[in-house]
Amino acid sequence: MKKNQSYIAKTFAGLEEILAKEVKELGGLNIKILNRAVMFEGDKELLYKTNYLCRTAIRVLVPIAIFRAQNENELYNEVLKIKWEDYIHLNGTFSIDGITSYSNITHSKYLALKTKDAIADRFREKYGRRPNVDTKDPDVKINVRVFRDECTVSLDSSVESLHKRGYRIGTGPAPLNEVLAAGMILLSGWDGNSNFVDPMCGSGTLPIEAAMFALNIPPAQFRELFGFTRWKDFDKELWQKIKDDAEAARKEFKYKIIGSDRSGRILQVAKENVVSAGLEDEISLRARYIDDAEPPEGGGTMITNPPYGERIKVEDIKKLYSEIGDAMKTKFEGYSAWIISSDKEALKFIGLRPSRRITLFNGPLESGFYKFDIYKGTKKVHKRKRIERKE
Ligand SMILES: C[S@@+](CC[C@H](N)C(=O)[O-])C[C@H]1O[C@@H](n2cnc3c(N)ncnc32)[C@H](O)[C@@H]1O
Repeated sequence: MKKNQSYIAKTFAGLEEILAKEVKELGGLNIKILNRAVMFEGDKELLYKTNYLCRTAIRVLVPIAIFRAQNENELYNEVLKIKWEDYIHLNGTFSIDGITSYSNITHSKYLALKTKDAIADRFREKYGRRPNVDTKDPDVKINVRVFRDECTVSLDSSVESLHKRGYRIGTGPAPLNEVLAAGMILLSGWDGNSNFVDPMCGSGTLPIEAAMFALNIPPAQFRELFGFTRWKDFDKELWQKIKDDAEAARKEFKYKIIGSDRSGRILQVAKENVVSAGLEDEISLRARYIDDAEPPEGGGTMITNPPYGERIKVEDIKKLYSEIGDAMKTKFEGYSAWIISSDKEALKFIGLRPSRRITLFNGPLESGFYKFDIYKGTKKVHKRKRIERKE
């Protein structure tokens, strides 16, 4: 691989700028913000670091060829020209992800098949035999993307999505993606120098990502699988040094991180996840309803991901969101409170005007990530008819 090289780190819509900032802090050069991705330049060390240290990257691609291809034959001929022997061992394995949009090459499976044929033919012509395809556990995973007539062939340095941090043992019915949770924490501006609370924490994703950020624990600390560790040019010493440096850069955290939820069952799952991440000394978990929330004194940041309207009856959702609003006004004085929700109607029942709204996607659901500043005097709770709890 060349000394300095272009990389593309993928992320979720709305997190591009945060990811660009993370990449910049790691020394990325010529950073360009794309749609759900960030393009940048750097050396091999930067590639390893982005995989290990960027909290908001989903995967990092290394483009090795960009060309025009109006049909399958043009694609085949261009892929044949790539020096695949520089990347794949003759006795190694590879797999291909094909993605196509607005192109004459309409089927992504066919795109992948044509790419595979060209790679196989190049090896056969040169060596009389070829590496095998292994879709489950390839040594080299190749990403081929055709957009209109432009084709980008990349090596996938992450192989498995980086949201798979390696600490998660279990989930509740609607867990937040870890990359999204980390992105929300970074977007909120919480810097680890105050308390952090999630009063509807489910399986604990937000408290865990918050603790990892506050203690400067690499998001990929518990991951074993990366693509680049099986590449021909893998630098084992450099990789070990990056991990050792990250270990030495851990920080102390002097405040409190609290996760609570009404469900004892889901909290048990959260506990297993917290223990698996080695964070039981940093995160306190409590079984309680939002209206009994007891955030630590001294202020801080509250971020929560309440249930959205889909699985819950309208009356219950109204009640829940007014309870969230009341709790924010009466208990979270001195806190910045953030809520992610796709339910615009329900959000009206919070009864507070957000000071910021950022559009994010929770899976396929377009959602708002809303900030509420809770000052003294925000305490007034609107009088409304309380609907009895069913549980
Ligand atoms: C969308 S889930 C949160 C998922 C979580 N972010 C995760 O990653 O696992 C919403 C959570 O709110 C909890 N919940 C619902 N009503 C509540 C209430 N009144 N007080 C506290 N928690 C509540 C549910 O038990 C559920 O775990």
